Amino acid sequence: MLWLLLLSSYLIGSIPTALIVGKLVYGIDIRDHGSKNPGATNTLRVLGKGSAIIVVLVDIGKGALAAYLPVYFNLDVEPLYFGLLAVVGHCFPIFAGFRGGKAIATTAGTLAVANFPLAVIAYVTFFLIIFITRYVFFGSISVGLSLLVYSFISPQQNFELIFLFFTLFLIYLHRSNIRNLILGIEPKINDKNLIND
Ligand code: G3P
Repeated sequence: MLWLLLLSSYLIGSIPTALIVGKLVYGIDIRDHGSKNPGATNTLRVLGKGSAIIVVLVDIGKGALAAYLPVYFNLDVEPLYFGLLAVVGHCFPIFAGFRGGKAIATTAGTLAVANFPLAVIAYVTFFLIIFITRYVFFGSISVGLSLLVYSFISPQQNFELIFLFFTLFLIYLHRSNIRNLILGIEPKINDKNLIND
């Protein structure tokens, strides 16, 4: 049962929302356009607001659903682990050649169910950093950093190691954004110019 639910979490995360929306509605592979990231930010950039809202909501839902599985089945296992497996599925989806997104929306859904105060801390930081810097990817990496800092200062949390790996994982996922920033071609949140990986 446990292994089946863990596998289900990964499979739920693997549903490639942005890819499906791009293909069904516009007949394009979102991974050939903009930043080439099949996530909500690039969907907004390439396909517009309506598609981005669908993508962000479904991607949040994937993390929330996976984190809810152990609660629903009354298992004594930390829901965060199930949600994080959905995050891994989102980033390395078996249904899309293991070329997935950058974790942020699915992590939001995961935290909203697994640990709501952590979700508030991480995503208030996310929006604050984007507001200040105008770069979405700075906000994305700050999600990991805020969780890491909070896990160290809060005596109730035992997630230091997980959030350390998670932050490194986010930095790895955003390596093309970091490279683009250094090259001076990383678009800010309201830039319309499309970048090529
Ligand atoms: O959450 C994704 C964001 O951090 C970066 O997306 O498309 O600019 O690479 P993108």
